[in-house]
Amino acid sequence: MYSDLKDKVVIITGAATGIGKAIAKRFAREDCKVVINYFNEDENPQKLVQEIEEEGGTASIIQGDVSKEDDVQRFVKLAHDTYGRLDIYVNNAGIENEVPSENLSLEDWQRVINTNLTGTFLGCREAAKYMLDHNIKGSIINVSSVHEIIPWPHFAHYAASKGGVKLLMESLALEFAPDGIRVNNIAPGAIDTPINAEKFSDPEKKKGVEKLIPLGYIGEPDQVASCAAFLASDQASYVTGTTLIADGGMTKYPGFQAGKG
Ligand code: NAI
Repeated sequence: MYSDLKDKVVIITGAATGIGKAIAKRFAREDCKVVINYFNEDENPQKLVQEIEEEGGTASIIQGDVSKEDDVQRFVKLAHDTYGRLDIYVNNAGIENEVPSENLSLEDWQRVINTNLTGTFLGCREAAKYMLDHNIKGSIINVSSVHEIIPWPHFAHYAASKGGVKLLMESLALEFAPDGIRVNNIAPGAIDTPINAEKFSDPEKKKGVEKLIPLGYIGEPDQVASCAAFLASDQASYVTGTTLIADGGMTKYPGFQAGKG
């Protein structure tokens, strides 16, 4: 727990499921006021609010598409109108789909880039603008991926979007450092969420992924959420422009483990 997070106002995008949901619950437990953006009504964001309130937390929900400028502006307006400020913005929403690149349609390319990269840009821009206007030394956190580092055949659009988020984050961290606004990424490895549900329901595919993880197991959303709480807290007050990798060692060349290679 980080006592300095008490009463901070946080927006999390794509937060009705998976990693975003875990981050929302974690910030609520840290006594933050949480604005949960969701995309699809069938993700039942009302249930998440209920769970947070049952634990004594405070949360609001707002539907919207992170790739739409007006929607992202509405998220910030809701935080301001409901809780009077904005301290932390987590760009979590993201999508992927598997396609051999010679068949990757422009439509798929744009859908992934618009959500993962443009959505993150819009969130960073609106959050920074608000923090600058209100003299708030806030924290912006982007959930990128190990694929901001690791190339990924058949997911070239996803890797391109996350690689873009890396240099976006680093550029903005440099730009806003004089204003005390910190910008960082979290790069999860393989985490057990709906995005991977199909893949991990196949035991062979799941085993194949586990072999890529030196710690030997698929991560849990809470293990990513604890990185977000740390990065937002004063314990990370000297941390900006960096990626906190939460991947069980996946990016550390597991092929070279134990004398191999
Ligand atoms: P998820 O599928 O549960 O979460 C993604 C969320 O984004 C969903 O709630 C979805 O409705 C929302 N979303 C999709 N398009 C949106 C849009 N246009 N506007 C607003 N919300 C939108 O999957 P997960 O794993 O929780 O993903 C969260 C983030 O973590 C993503 O950015 C993903 O790329 C990243 N990530 C996940 C990893 C994993 O193994 N689960 C590994 C590395 C990164």
